[in-house]
Amino acid sequence: MATSADLLAGLAVPAVLVQPDGVPVLANLAAEIFLNASQPALAERGWAAAFGPNSPVETLVQRARNEGNGCAAYDMVLHFSGGRTARADVLVAPVGERPGWLTVAFQTRSVATMVERQVQQQGAARSAVGVAAMLAHEIKNPLSGIRGAAQLLAGVSGEDDKRELTDLIVAEVDRIAKLVDRMESFTDTRTLKMRPENIHEVLGHVRRLAEQGFAQNIEIRERYDPSLPPIAGNRDALVQVFLNLLKNAAEAAGDKGSIKLTTAYRQGLRVRPAGGGPAVSLPLEVRIIDNGPGVPDNLADHVFEPFVTSKRGGTGLGLALVAKIIADHGGLVEYERSGDPAETVFRVLLPVAG
Ligand SMILES: Nc1ncnc2c1ncn2[C@@H]1O[C@H](COP(=O)(O)OP(=O)(O)OP(=O)(O)O)[C@@H](O)[C@H]1O
Ligand SMILES: [Mg+2]
Repeated sequence: MATSADLLAGLAVPAVLVQPDGVPVLANLAAEIFLNASQPALAERGWAAAFGPNSPVETLVQRARNEGNGCAAYDMVLHFSGGRTARADVLVAPVGERPGWLTVAFQTRSVATMVERQVQQQGAARSAVGVAAMLAHEIKNPLSGIRGAAQLLAGVSGEDDKRELTDLIVAEVDRIAKLVDRMESFTDTRTLKMRPENIHEVLGHVRRLAEQGFAQNIEIRERYDPSLPPIAGNRDALVQVFLNLLKNAAEAAGDKGSIKLTTAYRQGLRVRPAGGGPAVSLPLEVRIIDNGPGVPDNLADHVFEPFVTSKRGGTGLGLALVAKIIADHGGLVEYERSGDPAETVFRVLLPVAG
């Protein structure tokens, strides 16, 4: 089995072994080069061989010895005896097998910065993957419509029929272009254009879309408050929000299930934004209610996070997009299981226009 000295010698990181009386008794080659001091010089003169007397490194090691455990100083500026300076993280750790012994490792700043940069790049790559997945999710449907229309086009001869199909292709291409635009708003480089919108008109449109597609066999009931004032919103974005919510409800409720759409004005409901600041009033409430089994328990706290899904072939981006768009509207969306018999409720709260 390798000894501590063997392990130390093999390390590319400058590392020094300190014995219980505080003498830096062993230094690996990387440490000799970094400290510009030989192992015998260190063993004889201590840290002074590298830094002169009373250096911060000596103090740090002393502290670790006094406290009997490890300690670290990050981004420490080291002044060497010869006048050279360097920046490093200095990590002092106990040697498990030998009580009182310590290792001192120097993580030079260039290495530390490299690691940091790598981590940042990984973060960027992750969000790039997120955007790519989102685009795929939102673009697949219009693309299949275009493909179907193009196939039909090859077989029709009448001018009117052709016209109808080419119109459909143009409309779907426009929709993709809009989606791509909205992806840009997802990355926060653009803000949505808001206008006063009638939420019932938006819901009616979404309902018709649903009934022609994924909710063909599902009963959808409405309970609207007709006196609701307009909301300040972006129509396309809101259509996307309620389409995603209705699609989830339809998938959960299943063929014989039912869905309720309700709107209400809740005076006095004020919510403090997550980022702080004064409480805002969110009196407009839209609920999408289904009689399916509800969100699986282990996902309930995470449904609005991207890539959280319980569905085969689901992307888990539907609700993440909903949360993002509603936040852009200054609103809130929440999930709740309530009623008897229990129902699944997604509640959207929005401010009034003006
Ligand atoms: N009405 C609902 N009833 C029960 N569970 C739901 C409901 N809405 C969402 N969920 C749960 O939340 C998860 C995340 O939903 P989200 O819309 O973000 O993604 P998805 O529906 O799984 O995938 P995609 O939207 O890409 O089809 C779902 O997989 C499901 O487990
Ligand atoms: Mg979904």
